[in-house]
Amino acid sequence: MMKIAIIGTGYVGLPTGVGLAELGNRVVCVDKLTDKIDKLNRGELTLYEDGLEELFQKNVAAGALSFTTDMESAVKDADVVMLAVGTPPHPLTKEADLKYIYAAAEELARYLQGYTVVATKSTVPVGSGDEIEKIIRKVNPKADFDVVSLPEFLREGFAIYDFFNPDRIVIGAESNKAREVMLNLYQPFVGKSEILCVKRRSSETIKYASNAFLAMKIHYINEMADFCECADADIKEVAKGMGLDSRIGKKFLNSGPGYGGSCFPKDTNAMAQMGRKFGAHLTLIETTIAQNDARKSMIGRRVIELVKERPEGKIAVLGLAFKGGTDDCRESPAIDIVKEMIKHSRNIMVYDPKATENAKTILNNTVQYAESVDEACRDAEVAVILTEWEDFKHLDLKRLKKIMRCARIVDMRNMLSLDEVQQLGFDYQCVGKKIK
Ligand code: UGA
Repeated sequence: MMKIAIIGTGYVGLPTGVGLAELGNRVVCVDKLTDKIDKLNRGELTLYEDGLEELFQKNVAAGALSFTTDMESAVKDADVVMLAVGTPPHPLTKEADLKYIYAAAEELARYLQGYTVVATKSTVPVGSGDEIEKIIRKVNPKADFDVVSLPEFLREGFAIYDFFNPDRIVIGAESNKAREVMLNLYQPFVGKSEILCVKRRSSETIKYASNAFLAMKIHYINEMADFCECADADIKEVAKGMGLDSRIGKKFLNSGPGYGGSCFPKDTNAMAQMGRKFGAHLTLIETTIAQNDARKSMIGRRVIELVKERPEGKIAVLGLAFKGGTDDCRESPAIDIVKEMIKHSRNIMVYDPKATENAKTILNNTVQYAESVDEACRDAEVAVILTEWEDFKHLDLKRLKKIMRCARIVDMRNMLSLDEVQQLGFDYQCVGKKIK
């Protein structure tokens, strides 16, 4: 059993805290936001993740997991302090903004007692570990500590599954002592997952290089989808054929409206920025960023073009979250596509099973919000599917045909069965296949 303090209770900190408590450690999660900590202490979760609730309740009840705003009480006894605060992109430079993580390092430094490993879970630019080390040493020259990089590879919506079934655990440590502590913490994964010990700067790079590669993979399949539309091929068949080559792999070959979320856009931009800073230009990543952005505007314009004969007509948008299974709308392609359509002053009604409240904080009153698929689609000229919610796979198409003004669907997640929509006489467009 180890004593762990986790600073930051967001999408990374909270599932990690719950997971580590479930593995038998004593975990204290710290956050500056009193409301959030009060809520967690009342036994209420502050974000939705599949499977999180049950483990959260169980470990709180067992006394293995607790929450506080008091950094001192959490840090002074800890064997490991994990930094899991946000590193949002700076609005101007797009570099990862490190003010929260540096402030946390400065604060925790005062309370370190005995040997402690400070592990950075937040995604931070290469070299940040050195900076965090300097900050802690400056505030507390006598502290006995090491800073390690411990990148996070959890996906939103699958955080608990990914926590217990990681492909790999990467530990970037500069001392044997710190490496031993981390290997001890991750002992339960020995024999199940690959545990890789590397230099701290390599570990920091692995995180960005992985996310940027996955973003490029999505951009690649989206470009192939555009090619297939022009060349009369079918991207689903092409992706299947490519994915059967184990060197390429089946995953992340779903073409769609472009990648989004709080990670890929931020991390590709930060990686490109680092390339410029270190004088090693990352041209593939630069192109991916530009073309992924262009794709979202292109899709918005494509829908507008489809319904141009009735400028006053209604456009129904199904899905606002950046992917299915989450209420997160940060950098969601759906939101950018809606914004592009708003530029053409269209009458837009949106529906999402989970993300409407978050979308409202971005789109405000520029669109109307529906509480059901039916409400969004009633009298609409077109229904545009932008997020791959399971519910949308099972749309009652017969009913939609009756209530829409025009039986027309643009399916940007390739969710519907072509046979079914065509049998019902829908005018249907999808990604990567020209429908005749
Ligand atoms: C991503 C990575 O997958 C995680 O490994 C990583 O830990 C995380 O970022 C992070 O850095 O914290 P996440 O942002 O939750 O996780 O989302 P993904 O499931 O990777 O999807 C990202 C975007 O790519 C979504 O907009 C999704 O719709 C899109 N996507 C994904 C596709 O368009 N096609 C695909 O085949 C896969």
